[in-house]
Amino acid sequence: MNQINYSEKIPNNVNLDDNRRLQRALEQWQPNYLKWWEEMGPKDSSNLEVYLRTAISVDSQGWAHFGHVKMPDYRWGIFLAPEEEGRKINFGIHKGEDAWQEVPGEYRADLRRLIVTQGDTEPASVEQQRLLAQTAPSLYDRRNLYQVNVEEGRHLWAMVYLLHAYFGRDGREEAEALLTRHSGDPDKPRILQAFNEDTPDWLAFYMFTYFQDRDGKYQLSALSESGFDPLARTCKFMLTEEAHHMFVGETGVTRVIQRTCELMKENKTDNARTAGGIDLQTIQKYINFHYSICLDLFGQEISTNAANFYTEGVKGRFLETKIEDDHVLTSDSYDVLELKDGKPTLVEEPALKSINERLRNDYIADSQRGVDRWNAIIKKQGIDFELSLPHQAFNRGIGTFAGHRFSNDGKPLSEAQWEQQKDQWVPTDEDFAYVASLMKPVTEIGKVANWVAKPARGINNQPFDFEYVRFD
Ligand SMILES: [Fe+2]
Ligand SMILES: [Fe+2]
Repeated sequence: MNQINYSEKIPNNVNLDDNRRLQRALEQWQPNYLKWWEEMGPKDSSNLEVYLRTAISVDSQGWAHFGHVKMPDYRWGIFLAPEEEGRKINFGIHKGEDAWQEVPGEYRADLRRLIVTQGDTEPASVEQQRLLAQTAPSLYDRRNLYQVNVEEGRHLWAMVYLLHAYFGRDGREEAEALLTRHSGDPDKPRILQAFNEDTPDWLAFYMFTYFQDRDGKYQLSALSESGFDPLARTCKFMLTEEAHHMFVGETGVTRVIQRTCELMKENKTDNARTAGGIDLQTIQKYINFHYSICLDLFGQEISTNAANFYTEGVKGRFLETKIEDDHVLTSDSYDVLELKDGKPTLVEEPALKSINERLRNDYIADSQRGVDRWNAIIKKQGIDFELSLPHQAFNRGIGTFAGHRFSNDGKPLSEAQWEQQKDQWVPTDEDFAYVASLMKPVTEIGKVANWVAKPARGINNQPFDFEYVRFD
């Protein structure tokens, strides 16, 4: 077992004790982190006892520990996946060389930028979810929200550790800045736009954890291939936490759909709103919005930066070592969807410059799998309705389609046509107001709001009617 040392102020499995300078730097950052958590983290939650899981070791058995904890007492710390002996760099011009244990000087700026961009998303999502507990549809859901929040907090710790340990003074400055930018702040916003959007209600939260945390999975997977070994190992362990976030998203949307179908059948209506549920059309609009802003997170279709990161060996592809090619890519091509003569068209491009697009395509295929499972539920209920992911060109803010209008199925539209039709594709103020009207907190043990089904099972084999959150 790769145990985590919990006896120290900052739990870790990196022998922090042997590195007093780093330990002091992190201990200085810690109070600022706790202050940020208090001010920007889950509102009014300090006195609650939450049934949380805490990692006690970093191998597959390491998640065994569950118990009620006050969140400010959660042991945030630094956990890296175990070192792989003799690990090599698996792609780019350094392919076959030993993985780096220190930052190579020539790639320092690129690595810092990748770590800061990833690090910035972690506290951003906590800020975006700050008010959601106040309208949680059950104690089970409220607990899941808090679990996601503490783990995103720990992901911030993970990136801050790398900045402090490997980037000296400017690393420490970047670590400070991660606590001073805030989601949606007009003066100091978060780096990526999807992390400045509102998460106003629980349908948005489920969509967020389905689509946006899944972006996290793909970014972390690509970084876990890095030739910079401490980054690779950090991201590998973060991925084990990410899996639960996506579980919360997928099962959350599943439960909404389940309940919507039940309400439609019980009340013999095509419109679940008349029965106090969330209608399938509104669910589709939320999918359209969240999916399209998440596609932007993968960046430009054709990117010299992404090509450089790959060639340098600092950021790989999803499951890099499982791909059968030369892992250098200088003579390969890749089909990229681009805007040509006003229409989305597949264009053959150099594979190296298409790294972002390839990762986006992996993400798209993965996102589709959940939608297929949701459709199976609707079909099983005998309801004639199919959810879908909108076209890749729809509602995009970055890349070849940005600044152009498309229908949900990818037909080019004029601005006037878009204005006329967009209300059928993205949530309107009225849709948001309706969903908001359903958001009433349920704090009674074993009870759930009317618009969402109970989960199939509880957390850690506990029943649904378990006291997942204790109020004093
Ligand atoms: Fe995260
Ligand atoms: Fe996450």
